[in-house]
Amino acid sequence: MTIEILQTNKLLASCETALVERYTVHRLHEAADPDALLADIAGRVRGIAGQRASRELIGKLPKLEIIANFGVGYDGIDTAAARERGIRVTNTPNVLNDAVAEITIGLMIALARRIPQADRFVREGRWLEGGYPLLTELNGKTVGILGLGRIGKEIAVRAQAMKMRVVYHGRRRQPDEPYVYYDALTDMARDCDWLVLIAPGGKGTEKIVSRQVLAALGPQGCLVNMARGTLVDEAALVELLANGGLGGAALDVFEKEPQVPEALFGLDNVVLSPHQGSATHQTRNKMGALVVANLDAHFAGEPLPSAVV
Ligand code: 8YV
Repeated sequence: MTIEILQTNKLLASCETALVERYTVHRLHEAADPDALLADIAGRVRGIAGQRASRELIGKLPKLEIIANFGVGYDGIDTAAARERGIRVTNTPNVLNDAVAEITIGLMIALARRIPQADRFVREGRWLEGGYPLLTELNGKTVGILGLGRIGKEIAVRAQAMKMRVVYHGRRRQPDEPYVYYDALTDMARDCDWLVLIAPGGKGTEKIVSRQVLAALGPQGCLVNMARGTLVDEAALVELLANGGLGGAALDVFEKEPQVPEALFGLDNVVLSPHQGSATHQTRNKMGALVVANLDAHFAGEPLPSAVV
């Protein structure tokens, strides 16, 4: 008898195929009547694959042993509820570091040099009426990284290749890192030209990039959010971008994505991206393989490749 698992959202096709080859997969997100599906299978489900597992869902699955999250960020999983029941939780770290770091620098250059806006300028024939306004460069500027974890460190390396100075803020100073550490995020924002967010989402970081932090970054400062929309006071962000209190923003994530505040669409000092950090074939395939590897290891009684709980 194959092991039964529950999939809680759509996953990469190659990952879904690999899961179906190994397990009996129940797709909660596709069920016409999710409650009826759960009532039928709850007593048999031993694993979850996906990015969502609430306390309520976990509570309905008495045989649940493991939740394999597709993504490094696991803020969609109630880890406290899992821990209470001894349920393991895994994520997909490391395999996406390069992809996310690359697009972070890409979005920074796109914003500094207004690449999407300049592209529209050419397409609309406006170049014929005169050149595009002069802009700024990354080199010589200071970038503050909120969350100097595995991805943050890759961003730091690439920012230095852009001849930027790197500083950081996080839960604790990392004595082995060569960059200046700030105890207070607002102080770092005040001293930075760029503020890059790459810290985990979830309750501990909700709206830590407050109105005060954004105001400290200031009219010449730029925000880059590669982490989670929940980190930022989005209403304050929109307001400050519109009134010149903040210089610009490159945003890959949003509080209620895929809903994006419409007020951003008309702003010229903004570059928008549809949560693309890890969105390449090579990286997503590795992430999918890691989801499967964690489930396989668990059910074979072997050590988990990337456990967080
Ligand atoms: C998503 C991400 O997982 O890894 C993360 O935490 O945010 C992304 O890589 C990806 O969008 C999958 O849907």
